[in-house]
Amino acid sequence: MSVYESPMVPATETTTPLLQIRDLSVNYGGIQALQEISLVINAGEVVTLIGANGAGKSTTLRTISRLLHPRHGEIIYDNRDITKLRPDEVVRLGIAQSAEGRRMLTRLSVMDNLLLGAYTRTNRAEIQADIEQQFGRFPRLKERSKQLAGTLSGGEQQMLAIARALMSRPRLLLLDEPSLGLAPLIVREIFAIIRELHASGVTILLVEQNAQLALQNADRGYVMEAGRITINGLAADLINDDRVRKAYLGDVPPPVKLPPRAAPEEKNGLFGLR
Ligand SMILES: Nc1ncnc2c1ncn2[C@@H]1O[C@H](COP(=O)(O)OP(=O)(O)OP(=O)(O)O)[C@@H](O)[C@H]1O
Ligand SMILES: [Mg+2]
Repeated sequence: MSVYESPMVPATETTTPLLQIRDLSVNYGGIQALQEISLVINAGEVVTLIGANGAGKSTTLRTISRLLHPRHGEIIYDNRDITKLRPDEVVRLGIAQSAEGRRMLTRLSVMDNLLLGAYTRTNRAEIQADIEQQFGRFPRLKERSKQLAGTLSGGEQQMLAIARALMSRPRLLLLDEPSLGLAPLIVREIFAIIRELHASGVTILLVEQNAQLALQNADRGYVMEAGRITINGLAADLINDDRVRKAYLGDVPPPVKLPPRAAPEEKNGLFGLR
């Protein structure tokens, strides 16, 4: 059986699937962006989805968030078919996405963006307590609570995107390229927060182009190529997998053996131009 035919890593006795995607296909007009992908995320796991530009990673997240409609397949969350639910309904069930490119409302303040993250909730005292919790987690956001989101640095915007997603109290957090365009120091800070969230029990689906970073911080991973899942396994195994190393971890192939140097007279032959 090929890897593609067996996309589910068997759950151990202690794991329960929180999200299951089965044979999901998504089109943009005539373009088939996802072709029958299947994956499983167990409760409490960090699962990463890696792949090149245009592989279909964001499309997968946007389909789970119900911002895109699949042509075929189903999405099961917490034993419930959510394939046809509205975006606000899946947020209420506990799925939140922190968008790629930090698509936040740049003309709203940090505080208003956080309040917006809680749009499905009504208990003001709890919302306020959660804002304080986010400010504790991201002190820089507290200092800038009245500042317009558009004036924040890239790293601060990424923090706000994550904090805003957390304001809906998700059980499953979908992160799209949290390291994109950020300086190494800020990336380290963001990933420390991701590890903290994992430790506190949030289940995470992490999309990253930085495969090394993603696999170092994930329990399991799926590799996407041109709309399909081609490889999956434990992150620790994928990091040592030759195919993954060559394609995504920047492994330099062994140097090509050159033929012995041509004698001087041959240099003036067909390729002898200098
Ligand atoms: N709104 C859209 N309309 C038409 N085609 C789209 C749209 N969004 C994405 N696509 C196409 O769908 C495919 C998958 O795109 P997607 O954004 O999911 O890739 P990705 O893996 O997230 O890439 P990246 O690493 O660049 O973010 C690509 O071929 C892309 O060109
Ligand atoms: Mg993307």
